[in-house]
Amino acid sequence: MDKEISQAVIARLPRYFRYLGELKDSGVERISSQELSRLMHVTASQIRQDFNNFGGFGQQGYGYNVEYLYTEIGKILGLDKKHHLIIIGAGNLGQALANYMNFERRGFIFTGVFDINEKLHGKMIRGMKVRPMEEMQEFVRENNIDIAVLTIPKEGAAAAAEKLVGMGIKAIWNFAHVDLDVPDSVQVENVHLSDSLIKLSYMINQYENELEEKEKNASGEA
Ligand code: NAI
Repeated sequence: MDKEISQAVIARLPRYFRYLGELKDSGVERISSQELSRLMHVTASQIRQDFNNFGGFGQQGYGYNVEYLYTEIGKILGLDKKHHLIIIGAGNLGQALANYMNFERRGFIFTGVFDINEKLHGKMIRGMKVRPMEEMQEFVRENNIDIAVLTIPKEGAAAAAEKLVGMGIKAIWNFAHVDLDVPDSVQVENVHLSDSLIKLSYMINQYENELEEKEKNASGEA
């Protein structure tokens, strides 16, 4: 693909992929951009524009083949390959992620869990034993681990990231509230659930302000 695809388009692909996966699972074979638009609450022209970045994926008017679209978007997202993950930090968040079965359906295989707290060592989390940090290097090498999930407090995150980079990890899914300084060869996705919650607060505010405005206008007109 020669053309540079905008980050905004890339950011929308996981959502398309999720909806198409659900359609596929419920036996839908074809879908038009209008139907997909209604389902996803985005305009049909946005969908067509997004898909045009990748050659269109199907004939207009006739709709898209759901299975084909799902597979092609999956390939763009690199989901046709399996990724092996380890979790660093077997606390509340680490355990919740390890126990969420759906990641596996997308090809993300949780393979190991590590923690600094020796009281947790040997504890089983979804069939995986919590291991000491000292075993991490050998484990990463032997199990072809490409992604590390950091669910530890920010104080330990930089040192953990440095170790992981040294072990040749390809990517870090970073839940620690700190920006990591890693080489360009290592991909980092920072997750801040609170950003999403704060956005919700903004949406409540915005809705209520609009409602108030409408009520004011209506009483002014009366
Ligand atoms: P937790 O206290 O239940 O678990 C943290 C675990 O990390 C503990 O088992 C601890 O022994 C281990 N740990 C600490 N330092 C370590 C190190 N250097 N190496 C390996 N293991 C280490 O905490 P919880 O609730 O699981 O949260 C984990 C972190 O994730 C917190 O710092 C929190 O701020 C952050 N967090 C981030 C969210 C986000 O959206 N980004 C959402 C929730 C929590």
